Amino acid sequence: MKFPYSEKVLEHFKNPKNVGKIEEADGKGLEGSPACGDMVAVYLKVNPETTVIEDIKFESYGCASNIATASMITEMAKGKTLEEAKAITWKQATEELGGLPSVKAHCSVLAVEGLRAAIRDYEEKHGLVTENEPTTEDIVRSRLKHVMNPMAGLDIVRTELVLKIEVKEGAVRILLDLPSTHQFASAIKEDVLEKIESLWDVNEVKVVFTE
Ligand code: FES
Repeated sequence: MKFPYSEKVLEHFKNPKNVGKIEEADGKGLEGSPACGDMVAVYLKVNPETTVIEDIKFESYGCASNIATASMITEMAKGKTLEEAKAITWKQATEELGGLPSVKAHCSVLAVEGLRAAIRDYEEKHGLVTENEPTTEDIVRSRLKHVMNPMAGLDIVRTELVLKIEVKEGAVRILLDLPSTHQFASAIKEDVLEKIESLWDVNEVKVVFTE
């Protein structure tokens, strides 16, 4: 059977570069694809003086095209400044790979979005974001789409773990459909806090479990 993939795609799929997780990463992004439900996580180590990406790793819960593109964009981003890395597009990554079948475009979009989410996370944590809009329930919900539900391999919004979100004067309250004694409760809570506490106008985050 002939694969509809270039040699380069197959090479990056079989031997992906920069796979793994960076503990104590300076920036982390987790993105899910609305097209297929797959996810990718990207981790960055950034030089705070130069904003050069000194190390970058990814974990893919996606297909061969996603793994190949994530491998390629991490190679492209390494050694670049955050601004330069932000300019990397899925089209450039696809071209570098020698092309992808058009039904697989969303897989490379997902990889690039993972990179951009990690950069955005770094910028927020380091006060580099200038266009600040007030936090709303929708903003909190879209952040929570980046928190994984380890029981399902999908985010906690799409797996309906989030029962309620309240935002009032800098305080955010999130009700989760999970008992506090659940084995993943504390890991999910930690992830939620990390994603929401970095919002510029939020000064208190409460994660409430159902019992
Ligand atoms: Fe989901 Fe490729 S089909 S990332």
